[in-house]
Amino acid sequence: MAEPARLCVTNQKGGVGKTTVAINLAGALNDRGRDVLFVDLDPQGNATEGLGLLEAYDAEPPTLLDALVDPDDVPREEIVYEHEEMDVVASNVDMNAAASTLAAEADAELRLDRLLTRLESESKSGTHDYDFVVVDCPPHLGAVTDNGLVAAQNLIIPALAEPTSKRSLELLFDYVGALEMDHDVDIEPRALVANRIENTNAADEMLEWFEDALPETPIYRVRKRVAFQRAFAAGNSIFAVEEENDMRDVFASMAATLDERLTKREVSA
Ligand SMILES: Nc1ncnc2c1ncn2[C@@H]1O[C@H](COP(=O)(O)OP(=O)(O)O)[C@@H](O)[C@H]1O
Ligand SMILES: [Mg+2]
Repeated sequence: MAEPARLCVTNQKGGVGKTTVAINLAGALNDRGRDVLFVDLDPQGNATEGLGLLEAYDAEPPTLLDALVDPDDVPREEIVYEHEEMDVVASNVDMNAAASTLAAEADAELRLDRLLTRLESESKSGTHDYDFVVVDCPPHLGAVTDNGLVAAQNLIIPALAEPTSKRSLELLFDYVGALEMDHDVDIEPRALVANRIENTNAADEMLEWFEDALPETPIYRVRKRVAFQRAFAAGNSIFAVEEENDMRDVFASMAATLDERLTKREVSA
């Protein structure tokens, strides 16, 4: 089987919708019959909470941090949790020490890549053969985000449709460009998600800016909907709750395009 497509949901600005987009994109991929491994790299563990796995966040070591330090040694049962829509590599309170711990290690940026390669290969001999890995990044640049970017070179970029996003995207692209040179990798934006759109007129101008800045990248418009918070509180994506939501179509279309461009598989389930 082909390797899974790895997606990195990133933007160093906080509160723009990384976690919301990551969970609901993973839910949309699962809804089209794909097997998803979700990775919560954020030391705050918001996605871990929003997938109903708070006990994992407070679990005793070994945790994700130990697995990043020793990618070959921590048993998968210690870090991979089951969720009805996906498998989840949960964050943990110990991840707050990740940046300083990794700073002392050689090849610190390559740890998640090694861990994922191992988890993907183990899962082939088991019941799961992942089609996608979705990585939710912390709201800052540094060693932890570097691990996400190097491991999952397909970027999903949530951004608010407001002027502050110009600078955060410019910073992100400069940063990614430097990382590509340092590690000789090719990191590609695959989707820009204009998130929490309320007033379409004010958003239109920013959407034009996004189109000019990323002419090759599909842009998705996600409107402000309290249903995202309700699904988060219920521990699921919007695809697993009994509630109509007009944003399902947006996530379904993002999932379909990523599937078409990054995997060439028939949907089996
Ligand atoms: N489209 C949306 N509609 C309504 N609320 C949203 C939307 N996107 C995000 N939010 C809310 O905004 C807050 C920040 O979103 P979050 O996904 O946690 O951002 P990040 O991961 O980038 O910090 C959360 O409370 C989330 O529920
Ligand atoms: Mg987040």
